Amino acid sequence: MITLKSRQEIDLMRRAGKITAAARALAGKMVTPGVTTHEIDQAVYHFIKSQGATPSFLHYQGYPASVCISVNDEIIHGIPGKRVLHEGDIVSIDVGAYKDGFHGDCAATFPCGKISPEAQRLIDVTRQSFFEGLKFAREGYRVPDLSLAIQKYVEENGFSVVREYVGHGVGRQMHEAPEVPNYVAGHERPRFLRGMTVAVEPMVNAGGAGIKVMPDGWTVKTADGKWSAHYENTILITDGDPEILTDPEI
Ligand code: MF3
Ligand code: CO
Repeated sequence: MITLKSRQEIDLMRRAGKITAAARALAGKMVTPGVTTHEIDQAVYHFIKSQGATPSFLHYQGYPASVCISVNDEIIHGIPGKRVLHEGDIVSIDVGAYKDGFHGDCAATFPCGKISPEAQRLIDVTRQSFFEGLKFAREGYRVPDLSLAIQKYVEENGFSVVREYVGHGVGRQMHEAPEVPNYVAGHERPRFLRGMTVAVEPMVNAGGAGIKVMPDGWTVKTADGKWSAHYENTILITDGDPEILTDPEI
């Protein structure tokens, strides 16, 4: 069931979104050569707690950390640990914060030091694909209009979109209806209505769309070993332009 949020609920979503976006920014600033992914996870944990919020991912279906950190050929759900980041890596940070009954959810891929032009292009196309989709996140359009815009932009740029994982409604639950795929197939075709809050999150592979899940049961990598990027914001559908609740600029 798709839930439409009231004014009061939207206000709480804004607050959760602010904390989530700030956590992403904090993690992104820490992406530098020599840091471990565990150090980033710990800093984010303490920041979210300091805001009177809870990390949405921690213990979610047994997930052991506050952030997903996915490096290079890892697409999503990388578990923070002893891994040291190196110059040239691309590092996808995905974070959620839960505050006063509502979740925020956002992600971005950050360069570690100086990266290759091709890796930068992957990051840029992934981010822009979100904004291409956003043009359709408004009343009068349906979810697949947004999905098609993302898919077209990614594929025109020679990359591919991941199929197995999709965006989603977000609110009192981290994952609510509707599903928001980054490609078009025979899905349902829900309309966008004001008061819907959804996480739009293209996962873009430089090579083929294929994935494999690692033996840890979480980490998802590209099947072909090529690199991957991720970009996500929680947005609110309004009677006009969508409102991004996880501010990309902070
Ligand atoms: N952030 C993911 C999403 O956007 C969910 C992470 S799953 C977790 O849907 F287990 F890592 F929390
Ligand atoms: Co999400």
